[in-house]
Amino acid sequence: MKFTLNLNTKEVSSADCYVIGAYSKTETKGKKDVSTVVLTGWPKELKATFESMNSSADYTGSKGSTYSFNHYGSDVLVVGLGDKTKVTTEDIRKELAKAYKAVSKYKKVAVAFDTFTFKSKKEESLAILVEAFEMTAYKFDKYLSKSESAKLEEVILDSADKGTKKKAFQKAIKDAQHVAESVNVARDFVNEPPNVLRSTAYAKMVQKDVKDIPGVKCKIMGRKELQKENMNLFLSVNDGSAYDAQLVHLTYTPSKATKNTKHIAFVGKGLVFDTGGYSLKPGGSMMNMKFDMAGSATVFAAFRAAALMKLPVKITCILGMTDNAVNSKATMPDAIVKARNGKTVEILNTDAEGRLVMADCLDYACDLKPDALIDAATLTGACLIALGTEVCGLMSNDEKLASNLLKASKSADEYMWQLPIIPEWEKDMKGTISDLKNIGGSRWGGTAKAAAFLQEFIKNDVAWAHLDIAGVGDSQSHLPYCPSKGASGVIVRSLVEFLKQN
Ligand code: BES
Ligand code: MG
Ligand code: ZN
Repeated sequence: MKFTLNLNTKEVSSADCYVIGAYSKTETKGKKDVSTVVLTGWPKELKATFESMNSSADYTGSKGSTYSFNHYGSDVLVVGLGDKTKVTTEDIRKELAKAYKAVSKYKKVAVAFDTFTFKSKKEESLAILVEAFEMTAYKFDKYLSKSESAKLEEVILDSADKGTKKKAFQKAIKDAQHVAESVNVARDFVNEPPNVLRSTAYAKMVQKDVKDIPGVKCKIMGRKELQKENMNLFLSVNDGSAYDAQLVHLTYTPSKATKNTKHIAFVGKGLVFDTGGYSLKPGGSMMNMKFDMAGSATVFAAFRAAALMKLPVKITCILGMTDNAVNSKATMPDAIVKARNGKTVEILNTDAEGRLVMADCLDYACDLKPDALIDAATLTGACLIALGTEVCGLMSNDEKLASNLLKASKSADEYMWQLPIIPEWEKDMKGTISDLKNIGGSRWGGTAKAAAFLQEFIKNDVAWAHLDIAGVGDSQSHLPYCPSKGASGVIVRSLVEFLKQN
């Protein structure tokens, strides 16, 4: 989609359809609340046409409502945003996403940008608009023999803004495109079926994706290299697989990096399929376990967006890829395996495999001594019980880092909630014949117990935060800018916001 800025205008650009926002004002008349439409920032002639329509008298501009009419031969879509004093950035994002769906049949659309501006924050509002359109345009239709491609090619952004900050506006559009494209790249990886996205194929696809991004390096390690690194927990998950374990190690170094440049490390769970291993999942629970690599896709997407935006922060991204399958060599429950950090783990349940892969990857990442280490993983079904499918679980050993992540998620309008890691849960993960067990004594508090396990692999006093995206990684049918079925790409924008703050 091409976005063209048309500044310093009070006219309606010629296009197949014109999208314009309207607000609503409610006054008490006598004992009745009466709502009327507010048309601030509307071009004069358009306002006149609107008011000349008989049915427009009933239109109040309430949130979520729309009104269509024709103005000199071209269609106009009015998008209701409700009370201007109460409107939020998420309201605007959602209404624009719905508007995109209504106008994607046109080739060229103009948007009255000023009517969608949140509290005069123009760059932020441009980003919301561009992200909403690009995220909503996403489709995973490569396996359909017949599919319809969206028509919308060009979006003209009309604004009365004088244009003195045109460069900054253009940068905001470009950056938003990088972010939305990265969200869509993550969705593509997650939606890819497991017979295509083998660990080895996934690693190559990531490498290919970053090939031309300045400042980015990519190294792929396989079983041999992982053996040298003593990553036996990771390898134990891969033992039953016909495909090689892959650790993808990405770095992005900004062009003006100095000694003081912050270094953030990401680790992502990349289970391209989770059968549960010998602790086999029942069929119903196994369905859709191709999405068990969503953590890796999420951190990778944030990484590539940051690199494309040329953010002044050094980023390492470690992706641990394998499937969790069964064959005669697969790890059996009761196995005791020594981790990269020397701790022994009794693997009582081979379905608690994500933490094993993450453990070795986290230890590996701590060796790089980052200023902060953030991991993302579809780690526990318990997270869906605790926080539903809409909220991302956050656990951390560092309150400052946790609060910065919460702040970032707020500014991205994504839900995140912190769970504690209490000493009792740390104790529950200790073993009797080994240092640790990979499951606790009971199911209760499973999400944070998994975090207590991961915490055993954090060293060098690294500030660490764990994001359990088991709920939010998949379908978010309440969000009009996410596909109703399949990978959501949620949390990518929170991580980008976090990187921007650093
Ligand atoms: N990948 C799953 C977690 C998961 C389950 C994500 C359902 C999304 C939906 C993970 O590897 C797993 O199987 N975890 C077990 C842990 C248990 C054995 C302690 C779980 O949640 O059941
Ligand atoms: Mg599992
Ligand atoms: Zn898993």
